[in-house]
Amino acid sequence: MHSIELDPSLARLAAQNLARAGHAPRLRQGDGGRGWPEAAPFDRIVSTCAVRRVPYAWVGQLRPGGRLVLPLHREFWSGAVVALVRSPDGTAQGRFHGGASYMLMRDQRGDGGEADVDSSTARASATDLDPAALLSLGAALYLGARLPGVSLQHAGTEDGVRVWARAADGSAATAAAGEVVRYGVRDLWSEIEAGHRAYVREGAPTSDAFGLTVTAEGHEVWLHDPRNTIAREFRPEG
Ligand SMILES: C[S@@+](CC[C@H](N)C(=O)[O-])C[C@H]1O[C@@H](n2cnc3c(N)ncnc32)[C@H](O)[C@@H]1O
Repeated sequence: MHSIELDPSLARLAAQNLARAGHAPRLRQGDGGRGWPEAAPFDRIVSTCAVRRVPYAWVGQLRPGGRLVLPLHREFWSGAVVALVRSPDGTAQGRFHGGASYMLMRDQRGDGGEADVDSSTARASATDLDPAALLSLGAALYLGARLPGVSLQHAGTEDGVRVWARAADGSAATAAAGEVVRYGVRDLWSEIEAGHRAYVREGAPTSDAFGLTVTAEGHEVWLHDPRNTIAREFRPEG
């Protein structure tokens, strides 16, 4: 067993606690995103911090048939566990297994840069879409795959659920109680409504119907079958 922790004081504390509990894994203080190439290949890799992008090193360091379990984090939803199996061709594929919000891997924390919202562009109108419908993990996985880079936050209010959607260019929308206010050049709320209609047409699948394929080039979220890709996400890591 091998384990990597980035924070030096936590790594020391973990080593002491593991020894006290009678465990003797090989420990390293450093960046877990690089894996442990000298000890590869592994049968299993488990990440206990969330990632926005699966480091391909983890897939590369698994033996064919090996498993990779991790919490994945996206802007549109705060986290879901995905369990991947590595194929001989170097791809890893598997399904989502419910929600899980974990601390993000250190060097993937700063990706959410968004321009300021220009309040002078506010346009208010009515909406039939209840924002609460966006919060099931199935809906969030589907919409998040269709709208890469769009973040969604929510809160309970006296009027029910309020959501705030934002894109990197400063376009935004906030909706609650049958009213939506849109900002910026992109009509994010119409994109969300169209995405939600498509999700309902698909039969409103639950999160376990979705899966992820990771290759050296990027990630794809799929519905029911790996050939049924919802959207291609992320470019190759640079
Ligand atoms: C939710 S805690 C889990 C701690 C412990 N591994 C456990 O399972 O109880 C997430 C840990 O990931 C560590 N971490 C964040 N980025 C990391 C990275 N790039 N490499 C290794 N560890 C990292 C944090 O310092 C934090 O201790």
